Amino acid sequence: MVLFGSSAELIFDINFIIQIVLIILLIVGYSQKRTWRYHGIIMAIATITMIVTVLLIMAPSLIAQLPVLLLFPTSPSSLITIVHVIFGLMAIAAGLTYTFRFLYYSATNKPLTCGTRTQMRIQFTIWILAFVLGLSFYVYVYFLP
Ligand code: HEM
Repeated sequence: MVLFGSSAELIFDINFIIQIVLIILLIVGYSQKRTWRYHGIIMAIATITMIVTVLLIMAPSLIAQLPVLLLFPTSPSSLITIVHVIFGLMAIAAGLTYTFRFLYYSATNKPLTCGTRTQMRIQFTIWILAFVLGLSFYVYVYFLP
């Protein structure tokens, strides 16, 4: 049950595809210059979808991997996973902050100044890094052996 000829279970191939779609959505939402409402809606959808995939797919996989992480914490796959999780949690924390601000300001008709340009650039970079590390995990664990 594999999509790319890797040894990954189907659910991880599906997760991989979802994360690629989210990165495309992230770039579209980041680069569009129409209105902040349009930008906010795209980013809120991407953030919430990303969190759902973490809760349903990646967190359970992390829990299943815990014994391996504890036994071999310095193996390449463990190190990739640990750094991936750190960047992923940072992306969730910042994404949730901006999403809540966006929803609150929208509901109360306040200006949609959810974050500064620098904060948005940092969040974009963190998300891309989390993705690149997830991609590295996927290639290292499912393609290289
Ligand atoms: C912006 C946030 C994140 C992005 C873009 C992202 C992206 C990815 C990608 C592309 C993969 C490879 C596909 C796969 O193996 O399923 C992956 C795997 C994984 N991610 Fe994330 N991830 C994020 C957040 C997180 C968080 C917060 C956690 C911890 C709870 C996490 C834990 C994992 C684990 C354990 C795997 C390996 C799954 C497996 O066994 O194959 N990720 N991630």
